[in-house]
Amino acid sequence: MDNAEWRTWREAMATALYGPNGFYRSAGAPARHFRTAAHTGHVWATAIDALVRRVHDDLGRPDEFTVVEVGAGHGELLAGLAGLGSSRWNLVGVDVAPRPDHLPSTIEWRPGLPGSFVGVLLAVEWLDVVPVDVVELTDDGPRLVEVHTDGAERIGAAVSDRDRAWLDRWWPVAEVGDRAEVGRPRDEAWGDAVSRLQTGVAVAVDYAAVPARDVAGTLTGYKDGRQVMPVPDGSMDITAHVLFESLTATAVLTQRDALRELGVSGARPAYDGETADYLSALSHAGDEAELLDPGGLGGFGWLVQSKGTRNPLATTGTVRGSRP
Ligand SMILES: C[S@@+](CC[C@H](N)C(=O)[O-])C[C@H]1O[C@@H](n2cnc3c(N)ncnc32)[C@H](O)[C@@H]1O
Repeated sequence: MDNAEWRTWREAMATALYGPNGFYRSAGAPARHFRTAAHTGHVWATAIDALVRRVHDDLGRPDEFTVVEVGAGHGELLAGLAGLGSSRWNLVGVDVAPRPDHLPSTIEWRPGLPGSFVGVLLAVEWLDVVPVDVVELTDDGPRLVEVHTDGAERIGAAVSDRDRAWLDRWWPVAEVGDRAEVGRPRDEAWGDAVSRLQTGVAVAVDYAAVPARDVAGTLTGYKDGRQVMPVPDGSMDITAHVLFESLTATAVLTQRDALRELGVSGARPAYDGETADYLSALSHAGDEAELLDPGGLGGFGWLVQSKGTRNPLATTGTVRGSRP
């Protein structure tokens, strides 16, 4: 194999997902290959709408109020928010993917984050696709794992001092063969995104890495609705769970707790003799149950960062101070 075709996972992910022919450059890639909360539709949009209303109320209902979704995918959530009458707020989608055709014209779509805004920043399954390096502990210490375009791996160079310091603090690798993903680029990406928020609340929703459990690392691929071996050839999503502990946050809670706080119950409806209404209520309850399922989307973590206002989900979750 040509040496030039071997790259670290961070470099390989960046090209495979966001390069000129990258996986996320085409419209609608997420929904074609995997399912996110946004794909459940109305229930998810209604819950997020309730969250945004709380923040808007807490800030005294300012006229200039913006909801930014970074990593907006195919715009399903923002379209849902617009459909609920949230158009009195500015709605902004940020994604490298092209503007979705179906998006209401009131929604702004841009490739990068706006400079400064008051309102709510949403990052749903965004941080898990911010490229990271994979590290494996060898007899010579922690080394970067390199990958070929066909998915073959080999052990590469020693990790930098900065990455080693991050690993020692947040995701120590204990035994030879153990793996970790270096979340430092995600800490930086989150810090940059939150810095754009002048006043308001930022929420990141993602599947959390647990170093004590994830000793083989979490990097994986998704293609055509199936979990597959990650191959950085642009044909699939490549994702790794997010280490929440190293991210700046006011509080962390599970999606299940966050959604219950926002009025999602998952309760089965009672049959009242109206078949059509009952079937519709049953479908709604099914969507709620999918979002609350502790073994699925309900097991996702919500990371909340408040700036100049209270935590709108303060009655639940683990409150913790910001990272020093
Ligand atoms: C896993 S998808 C989630 C999409 C959507 N939030 C959802 O829940 O269905 C991640 C999205 O983040 C986008 N993305 C990742 N990094 C980005 C960046 N630096 N700038 C803009 N978009 C980015 C990808 O293009 C992709 O559409």
